[in-house]
Amino acid sequence: MNNNKFIILCFMLGFTLQSCTTAILDEVDKNTLPPLEKTVTYESDIKSIMTNHCITCHAGPAPNAGLDLSTYANTKYSAEQGSLVARMNNATNPMPPSGKLSPETLQILDKWITDNLPEN
Ligand code: HEC
Repeated sequence: MNNNKFIILCFMLGFTLQSCTTAILDEVDKNTLPPLEKTVTYESDIKSIMTNHCITCHAGPAPNAGLDLSTYANTKYSAEQGSLVARMNNATNPMPPSGKLSPETLQILDKWITDNLPEN
């Protein structure tokens, strides 16, 4: 086959793969997951989520939006009084900005809220 045809074929394959992946990701909703039985705590569950996904921007001397998510007190405050939960679940303007975290992770956050945001 000539080069042009090959390039067109690659584009088509790329688009197909992309729409498949998007469909799969959209299909899994945190509300369809089996309920979490265990109690979620900051130390055992939430801290690592913040460390892995948030504190590159939300910690240090000049955190983005003035929001430091490196401590229990601040994370709890943002979850209770701020927009942490809303932004992490926001499809169009999510946190982290690179895209919503997995449904499993968002379910853990929801359970922490239901459990009243325990530290340990
Ligand atoms: C790549 C950098 C980056 C990462 C990673 C990131 N954020 Fe943000 N965040 C920002 C910026 C920039 C803003 C301010 C602009 C905006 O609100 O979109 C912001 C704003 C916010 C706000 C709104 C604060 C306010 O007072 O309006 C919340 C809540 C938030 N982020 C939570 C999080 C959480 C939780 C995570 C991890 C799950 C996270 N962010 C990861 C850059 C980041």
